[in-house]
Amino acid sequence: MCIKNLLQTGTMPRFKTILVTGGAGYIGSHCVVDLVNAGHEVVAIDNFANAVGDDEGSPALRRVEEITGKKVTFYKADLLNKSQIGDIFDKHPIDCVIHFAALKAVGESMQQPLLYYQNNLLGMLNLLEIMRSHNCFQMVFSSSCTVYGEPKHLPITEDHPTGNITNVYGRTKYFIEEMLKDLSIADKRWNIISLRYFNPVGAHPSGLIGEDPTKEFTNLMPFMAQVALGKKPVLTVFGNDYQTPDGTGVRDYIHVMDLASGHVAALNLLSENHVGLKVYNLGTGRGVSVKELVEVFEKVTSTKIPLQYEARRLGDITAMWADATLAKNELHWVTKHTIEEMCTDFWRWQTMNPDGYPKKNVKTSVIVNGKSSS
Ligand code: NAD
Ligand code: UD1
Repeated sequence: MCIKNLLQTGTMPRFKTILVTGGAGYIGSHCVVDLVNAGHEVVAIDNFANAVGDDEGSPALRRVEEITGKKVTFYKADLLNKSQIGDIFDKHPIDCVIHFAALKAVGESMQQPLLYYQNNLLGMLNLLEIMRSHNCFQMVFSSSCTVYGEPKHLPITEDHPTGNITNVYGRTKYFIEEMLKDLSIADKRWNIISLRYFNPVGAHPSGLIGEDPTKEFTNLMPFMAQVALGKKPVLTVFGNDYQTPDGTGVRDYIHVMDLASGHVAALNLLSENHVGLKVYNLGTGRGVSVKELVEVFEKVTSTKIPLQYEARRLGDITAMWADATLAKNELHWVTKHTIEEMCTDFWRWQTMNPDGYPKKNVKTSVIVNGKSSS
C-alpha cells in the first residue's frame, strides 16, 4: 500500500491525547507506561470486566503513575454504554484511540458466544461511531495471531490467509478486522493500524505492574508461575506428540514491554501518514516450545516445575511464529527482550505481588528491592 506523508503538507498534527480502552488490563497498563514516557497525555477507561479496580480507580494505573511520575486520567466506563463514552470524548480532545478493551478467554467465548459478540463487536461499533461523531479517525486496534488459524506456512507474514478460526474469541478479532477493512474503504478519513500480537508474556521490569486477570486464565506463563509459587500442584503440558523438535507446542512469546513499544511506533506512523488500514505482526520471529519455556523459567527463577503430560488441548495449533519484517521496515520497531527477561520479569511481578494488585480500597504500598513497606 502506498503510504502518503501528510505531515509534509501540514494537514496532520502529531497526537497529544490518547484514549486507551482497557487501560487497566494487562497489555493496556504496560502500554500506558510507554505512552506517558513518550510524552502523550493518556485518558484510560476500563469497566473492570477482567481487571482489578473499583470506584476508587485502578491499582494498576496508580502503579503506572508511580513508575512514570506522571498523571493518568482514568474513567470507569463501559464501551457498551455509549453515553458514558460520548461524555469522555466531549470532555477530552482525543487525537487517537488505542483499543485494547475486549473479552479474551477462549473457553468462555465458546460457552458464551453472545457475550463475546456483544462485548467485542458492539463495543467496537459504539467506539467507532462515537469517534466519527467527534471527528476522531485514528485508531490502533489489538488484534491477534489467532486470526491466522492453523498456519499454512511459517513464519507467518501478514498476507497469510485469515478467518479459518476454531474459537469464538478469535472470530471476534477476525470480524472486527473485516469490519475495519470495509470502513477504511468506504470512508477515507479513517486511519487505522491493526496489530496482530503473538503471545504476550512478562511484566514491567519494576515488578510493580503485571498480569492480574479477575477471570479464570489458562495461558502458559501465568499458570506456570502459579505452579512455581506452589499455588497449583503441577503444570499440565497439552501434548508431546506434535511435529516439533521436542513434541510440544511452539509459540512466539513476546515481552509485554516490546509489545508496548510497538504501539508507540504505530502511533508515530499514524501521526505522520495516512495508511487507511494497515496490519502488522508484533512478535519476535522466534518459535519457543513449551518444554523450552519451562526450562528457561526454571533456570532463571531457580524453581522446579512439576510437569504432567496430557492429550492435546482442543483447538490448539502445532506451531506459530511471526515474520515481523514489515513492522521492522515500516514501524521501525524491533523486539529487545529475551526469553530469559520475559521469565525473570514475570517472576519478579509474581513474587512481589503473590496475590496480584491490592484489592478494594487498599492504598498502593511502596516497594523497594522486592520488600513491601506496608
Ligand atoms: P485484559 O483482559 O487484561 O485487558 C482487557 C481490558 O479490557 C480488561 O481490563 C477489561 O476489564 C477491559 N474491558 C473488557 N470489556 C470492556 C468493555 N466493554 N468496556 C470497558 N472495558 C472493557 O487483556 P490483555 O491481555 O491486556 O489484552 C488486551 C487486548 O489484546 C485484548 O483486545 C485482547 O483480545 C488482545 N490480545 C491479547 C493477547 C494476550 O495473550 N494477552 C493476545 C492477542 C491479543
Ligand atoms: C491462546 C489462545 C489464543 C490467544 C493466545 C494469546 C487458546 C486455544 N488460544 O493461545 O486465542 O490469542 O492465547 O496469548 O487458548 N500450554 C500447556 N499447558 C498449559 C497452558 C498452555 O501445555 O497449562 C501450552 C499450549 O498447548 C500451547 C502453549 O502452551 O502450546 C501456549 O498456550 P497459551 O499460553 O494458552 O497460548 P496459545 O495456545 O498460543
